[in-house]
Amino acid sequence: MLTHDTARLSTDEFSEPGDQAADDLRSELIAGLLCRQAHTSPKYFYDALGSKLFEAICELSEYYPTRTEAAIFDAHADDIAKSVGRGCTMIDLGAGNCEKAAQLFPALRPAQYVAVDISLDFLRSAVKQLRPRFPQVAMTELGMDFSESLELPQRVKRDKRLFFYPGSSIGNFTPEQTLQFLQRIRRQCHVSGRADGGLLIGVDLVKDKAVLDAAYDDALGVTASFNLNLLLHLNRMLNADFNPRQWQHRGFFNGAQSRIEMHLVAREALTVNWPGGQRHFAQGESIHTENSYKYTQARFLALLAEAGFRKPRVWTDPKNWFLVCHARAA
Ligand code: AVJ
Repeated sequence: MLTHDTARLSTDEFSEPGDQAADDLRSELIAGLLCRQAHTSPKYFYDALGSKLFEAICELSEYYPTRTEAAIFDAHADDIAKSVGRGCTMIDLGAGNCEKAAQLFPALRPAQYVAVDISLDFLRSAVKQLRPRFPQVAMTELGMDFSESLELPQRVKRDKRLFFYPGSSIGNFTPEQTLQFLQRIRRQCHVSGRADGGLLIGVDLVKDKAVLDAAYDDALGVTASFNLNLLLHLNRMLNADFNPRQWQHRGFFNGAQSRIEMHLVAREALTVNWPGGQRHFAQGESIHTENSYKYTQARFLALLAEAGFRKPRVWTDPKNWFLVCHARAA
């Protein structure tokens, strides 16, 4: 039976999935919740409120990636544009409020801008506000989960594709998945069998643990709210009864794995119910909600090369906290 929530899921959050797609997502979510170490995919952070909370995170003094990357774009825009070339088809993966791409428009002058995000309503209003600011750029928005497939519709031009993947979102993938994802991007850069275009990507670098810990566990608790909001999204998607007050945010750098881990920890023994199932959590048991891998420059460049990308150009900030890289598909 199609509940109200299912209808919302299929119309608002994904391009045109049938009920099957919504059912698959639910089964996948439930399977994750039932694992001994319960886990969810970070893509579920981004409902309408989650996208706004992420914008708020980007304003925090502790959360350095957004502003550090913006400073790199600002300092090196002309150099980046020289490397990329004018008139590209700019495909923004996880565009969100589209601000990062917009910052580069004056230097890059893309012919077409394709904003892709899982949070389609949020994306639509962002692109709507962007159009009048850059009337010379053709824009389209795509509500899709690009972590599943990068198959783009016909209206996305094939020539001079520039995949834009800023903000270190690549960190949400494991290094193995990262390699596969980079390979998949590279395959999307082929025009009639010939490689053309490339990738402009932002990657967060390994640094002092205290800096990393604070960035994912800020004093105001904005990251905590962002993490806890996932439970409200799960309630809507699964018709579940998570009570955010029973859960506590944890975000910390795991040096051995070179990744930030975010968890929601049960403050007390509790049971979560959804139609057809439930999960008991002992006090202190957690749901692992996100990994955010941090790289060294050498390690990331090795992955890029392994994926077949050529001629990387690299820009960093004075503290070497963040890396922006442009590489060619051929
Ligand atoms: C959007 C994946 C880049 O990992 O820094 C921010 C998400 N999570 N604070 C990141 C996030 C908690 C962010 N990315």
